[in-house]
Amino acid sequence: MTVIKRARQKDIQVLSEKLLSLLEDKNSQIYQDNVAKFGIPEEYVKKAFAEKTLLKAATTGKATFYLALENNEIIGFAQTIQKNANTTELDRIIIFPQHTRKGIGTQLLRKIITDQKQKEVENIIVSTGKEERQARQFYEKNGFKQIKEVTIESPWGKELTLVIYQLCLRRS
Ligand SMILES: CC(C)(COP(=O)(O)OP(=O)(O)OC[C@H]1O[C@@H](n2cnc3c(N)ncnc32)[C@H](O)[C@@H]1OP(=O)(O)O)[C@@H](O)C(=O)NCCC(=O)NCCS
Repeated sequence: MTVIKRARQKDIQVLSEKLLSLLEDKNSQIYQDNVAKFGIPEEYVKKAFAEKTLLKAATTGKATFYLALENNEIIGFAQTIQKNANTTELDRIIIFPQHTRKGIGTQLLRKIITDQKQKEVENIIVSTGKEERQARQFYEKNGFKQIKEVTIESPWGKELTLVIYQLCLRRS
């Protein structure tokens, strides 16, 4: 059975360890899909998922981490950032490779939506690479609407075209 929950401080430490260990294998699907494909340098990845970075994001208030667990093992997670009273950004959602396409991403998203509705947040926004077919289909299947397309220079200097999606919570 899959358990979906908001992460506490000690869960965030476990999450960081798990991510860093998964990303150590450069041939793994998770490394290829989330790092290599975007040309993200290794130091950047290590820093992004370091315990210190995740804990800082969680404890400075606006970021919330959600975990999907099976037999107490983390099999996926999501990170949200509340931008203002009306809008929350889904910053990341990753289901680990052997566990995709089983409805777990959708369950994580539902938990996030329930929490945002409780806080009377009106919109969830998310951006994803224009070429990210599976992520785009995941958001579209879950009711997100494309609102714009932007080309940015990533912090590691590579140009990326992103599609921004929005899910309006008021009428759903
Ligand atoms: C995108 C992701 C979060 C989806 O999670 P998931 O648990 O696999 O998704 P679900 O099983 O809930 O799928 C819901 C719907 O999303 C779409 N979808 C999910 N994976 C897909 C894939 N590989 N190809 C096409 N559509 C896909 C489908 O419409 C699916 O519905 P269906 O299975 O009834 O056809 C997951 O595949 C993932 O972590 N991918 C790698 C990281 C990533 O791209 N993250 C998003 C950007 S940060």
